[in-house]
Amino acid sequence: MQRPQTVTPPQGKLGVLLPGMGAVSTTFIAGCLLSRRGLARPIGSLTQTGTIRLGKRTDGRSPKIADFAPLAKLEDLVFGGWDLYPDTAYAAAANANVLESRHLDPIKDELSAIQPMSAAFYPEYVKRLSGPNVKKAASKFEMVEQIREDIRRFMKQNDCSRAVAVWCGSTEIYLEPGPAHQTIASFEKALRENDPTISNSMLYAWALLKEGVPFANGAPNLTVDIPAVHELARETQTPISGKDFKTGQTLMKTILAPGFKARMIGMRGWFSTNILGNRDGEVLDDPDNFKSKEVSKLGVLEQILQPEIHKELYGDLYHKVRINYYPPAGDAKEGWDNIDIFGWLGYPMQIKVDFLCRDSILAAPLVLDLALFMDLARRAGFRGVQEWLSFYFKSPMTAPGLYPEHDLFIQSMKLKNTLRWMMGEELITHLGHEYYD
Ligand SMILES: NC(=O)c1ccc[n+]([C@@H]2O[C@H](COP(=O)([O-])OP(=O)(O)OC[C@H]3O[C@@H](n4cnc5c(N)ncnc54)[C@H](O)[C@@H]3O)[C@@H](O)[C@H]2O)c1
Repeated sequence: MQRPQTVTPPQGKLGVLLPGMGAVSTTFIAGCLLSRRGLARPIGSLTQTGTIRLGKRTDGRSPKIADFAPLAKLEDLVFGGWDLYPDTAYAAAANANVLESRHLDPIKDELSAIQPMSAAFYPEYVKRLSGPNVKKAASKFEMVEQIREDIRRFMKQNDCSRAVAVWCGSTEIYLEPGPAHQTIASFEKALRENDPTISNSMLYAWALLKEGVPFANGAPNLTVDIPAVHELARETQTPISGKDFKTGQTLMKTILAPGFKARMIGMRGWFSTNILGNRDGEVLDDPDNFKSKEVSKLGVLEQILQPEIHKELYGDLYHKVRINYYPPAGDAKEGWDNIDIFGWLGYPMQIKVDFLCRDSILAAPLVLDLALFMDLARRAGFRGVQEWLSFYFKSPMTAPGLYPEHDLFIQSMKLKNTLRWMMGEELITHLGHEYYD
């Protein structure tokens, strides 16, 4: 891939399209509306608060990322989306019960004006949900056409120069790539034949990519992780990224595990359990939907610790992940980890982590960063899988045959080096020999 000669400036309005307008989406939208009015701070968002070092450590150049890369401004974002429940963003946010009235009241009118478009929803992929705001179509192919019309209408009505999409819809049942997913031709044939291996999220992704809209996948769904979508993304010059926002327990895992590994501390077991009571938790209570999440959460440790190379330290690791639906917890998830490690001469030790977190508060800044970086990627001429955005995902997408990089600090370095490379700045290797010449 060539270094971009120019990055097209972010002119005009950017439509941010959200399939699924539940807890994460509405917390994200509300945060953007409050931040642009100066009523709250977008904490946790790299694009809004992060800096990037340029040149040598002695140069003293660390601009804000937002001043360095030509990102869209919060003021230029217009929000829209789809949901099977007809609630406005205000009603959905009130129902999700993440934000307090001191945050919802000042933006009530703006949130109330955001009405979800009707959903493409075949219930077999998310059996726990049923709602009235759904499209009817003779085939999945026609369903895609209806979503494409929604996108075009939204952009026209809101005077958007471009758009970007972040999947914030429910976790679907576990699917594996099959014959329908191999090429554009096989996928389109399968759409016409209502193939059951094409899920709801794939219909949106297909429609969005056909319209040249970058697509980031916040759920562990298969969606854009199939060869046909990769081919379409390349053909339409559109970026894709995924999957599954890295927010609570897996974020902690990818912060801690690289540290143990760097110090060659052994590990016998890592038991993770989650208690959560929001709608996401209810959907994940179904074993078929939990399986998608479980696969996404389990891959992390094995890749970071490399048990095949470090047999003595990690060869017998027992890794277990559970998710328990417990309604009283609401969106305030508890992620509890028990880690059995061993050190010098094999002596055992234990670490307990009890993360009393807030799921949507952790996810909202990721939606913002992904929307802005995916839009930037498109304007820089990037297309297909955006591995530099692995930083945001539990189960990062890569080129075929490449293992994903899970270590949060390597992911952060990769992200910043990609920005430097995109903008024609020198890469930072941390070698630093020049300071001692
Ligand atoms: N919050 C986190 O920390 C976090 C982390 C990783 C991944 N995720 C994922 O993000 C997604 C959103 O999480 P949430 O807490 O907002 O869930 P939520 O249940 O509050 O919202 C999801 C919304 O998607 C809608 N939906 C489902 N299928 C749809 C379809 N086909 N078309 C349109 N709308 C559809 C549902 O009606 C619901 O309102 C979930 O898949 C979740 O697993 C969240």
